[in-house]
Order: sequence, then structure tokens, then C-alpha cells
Amino acid sequence: MNFALTVNSLSVYYLSHFGTVKAVDDVSFSLEKNQSIGIVGESGCGKSTLGAALLRSVPYPGKIVDGQIILDGQDITKISDDEFDKKIRWKEISMIFQGALNSLDPVFTVGSQMKEILHQHGYSTDDLEVIADSLKSVLLEPSITKKYPHELSGGMKQRTSIAMALLLNPKILVADEPTTSLDVMVQSQIINLLKKLKRDRNMSIVFISHDLGVISEVSETIAIMYRGQIVELGKSYEIYKNPKHPYTEKLVTSIPNIKHKENRPQDLSEKSQGPIRKETGCKFYDGCPYAKEKCRNDPPVINHKNGYIRCWLYE
Ligand SMILES: Nc1ncnc2c1ncn2[C@@H]1O[C@H](COP(=O)(O)OP(=O)(O)O)[C@@H](O)[C@H]1O
Ligand SMILES: [Mg+2]
Repeated sequence: MNFALTVNSLSVYYLSHFGTVKAVDDVSFSLEKNQSIGIVGESGCGKSTLGAALLRSVPYPGKIVDGQIILDGQDITKISDDEFDKKIRWKEISMIFQGALNSLDPVFTVGSQMKEILHQHGYSTDDLEVIADSLKSVLLEPSITKKYPHELSGGMKQRTSIAMALLLNPKILVADEPTTSLDVMVQSQIINLLKKLKRDRNMSIVFISHDLGVISEVSETIAIMYRGQIVELGKSYEIYKNPKHPYTEKLVTSIPNIKHKENRPQDLSEKSQGPIRKETGCKFYDGCPYAKEKCRNDPPVINHKNGYIRCWLYE
């Protein structure tokens, strides 16, 4: 199989005087070319840390402590910062960070911010075609380059940050909560846009969201994260139709169902998990209706055709 990206046993910890937070703990998955993987889980489960690790941008005091990130046959955890910045960032893989909507610089026009990206990477800033192309692919008029961020709507700001991420034609886009804090209508426009970009530009997308409903619209494959670990990895339709891990089951049944709103179980999507502690055993032990004595030990990883489940139930 021809993968755009393979992550092997990746662990990313935040190391401080107060202790170690295992934000990403032994995570593995592959992303096929021209496909999308959705990373979903509650707030605090490690999604943004995982995304940032793919861009070697984990904030201090975070550190990739173990594992591999293979891009084009090369383990990018092993190369120098310099080489990563020169050859990989923006060109091979690019990211829309969580909260990108509010991170456009308020004092510069869209055009000058885009030129700055080109300048930093040694491209000519006179070549306005690159900028126009990128804007066109997110369905924005070139005239938007003259605007300041505050003159744009939320949806237009998000399109602008996507256009910036696409400037140097990356093969992989990591989009961290790109629809969160947008109106429902605008959310679906951004989702459709990402689908179109994947098609038109032959891109692969790592789509991060706390919302399984949104994720399943974009992604062929879904990774369910819980407290730093992927507890279930599988094809989108399988996860939906037949969730195997008890946590996945809980997430799937808590997706808002318009017809049966009154029967809807507690919505878990926005619940925060609190700090991730060092502990052995299944991390979902306390929340799992099927928990048994043996679940106090670290659960096995059970592989299947399209992914895996981390659970004693399937041993
Ligand atoms: N800079 C940091 N220092 C220490 N801990 C952090 C830092 N950033 C995130 N964390 C912790 O790492 C865990 C994962 O956070 P994050 O990756 O932001 O999760 P998510 O994106 O799923 O909400 C959380 O427990 C969070 O408190
Ligand atoms: Mg996040």
C-alpha cells in the first residue's frame, strides 16, 4: 500500500516539575494517499498534540519521546529542525492550527501575510499567481488580499487560513478543529471545501475534531482517541455501524439524532477529561459498562483488517 503518512508507536509527553502528561501514548496509524483520517475524542485527549507532532510543532515542554512519523519513506522525527523547515514544512505537510480563525495577524492584510510565507521560504513575492491560485482553490476572490482580518467573516477567515496552508502545495494537510466555532451553515461549507481540495489537489487530510458527526463526513478512516491513546481505528462506516470499543460505542450513541432528541444520551463531545495521569490498566476502566477485573491491566491491541481495537473484550 502506498501511504502518505505512517505513524508508528508515537508517544509525546509534556515533561515538567509537576509530573509527566502522556498526551500521546503509543499511537499508530497510516494515512493512504488522497484519503482522509479523522482523529476524534473529547477535549484534552491529545488530538492537538498529535497533530502538532506531525508538524514537529509540539509546544514546550512537550517532547516526542518515542516512535516514528514516516513521510515519503523518511522518519521525520529523526531529521534536524533545519532540514524539516527547509524541505518538509509547508511543502510536504502543512497545518491549520486550532483557533486559526483568530490567529491571523490583525495589523497586516491577507496579501502581505501570504507574501511573508512565500518570502520565508525563498519564493518570489512578485509572483502573485501562486497566491491567486491558492485563494481560488478555497473559492476566494484575489481582491481579498487587500483586506485585513477584521474585515472578514468567520468562514472567510477560515478559508484564508486554509489558503495559507496550501500556498506551497503540501501533499498532506492537518486541520485541527477547522469547523469549531463556526455557524452550522459555514461548517458544512468548510467541510465541502476540504472534500473538494482533497479531490482536486490529490491531497491527504488529517482531520481533527471533537465532533464524530463532522469527522465522519470527511474521513474514510477514523481514529477514536481516549486519554492519549487510539482505542479504536477503523473504516468510517464500520465505526458508525458497528462500534467495537465501549468508548466508541458511547461516542456513537451520543451523536445528536434529530429524530430522537429526547432519547439522546448524555453528550460527551465537549466534556473535558482533565489531566492524563500515569496509570496502568485500561484508561476507560471507570467509564466502561463492561469493565472486568482484568481491565485493570493494560489492554491488548487487537488488529483487524482495517485497523485495531485496544480492549480486553476482543482478546
Ligand atoms: N503546553 C502544555 N503543557 C502541559 N500539558 C499540556 C500542554 N498542552 C497540552 N497539555 C495537556 O496534554 C493533554 C492533551 O492536550 P491536547 O493535545 O490539547 O488535547 P485536545 O486537542 O484533544 O483537546 C491535556 O491533558 C492537556 O492538558
Ligand atoms: Mg485540541
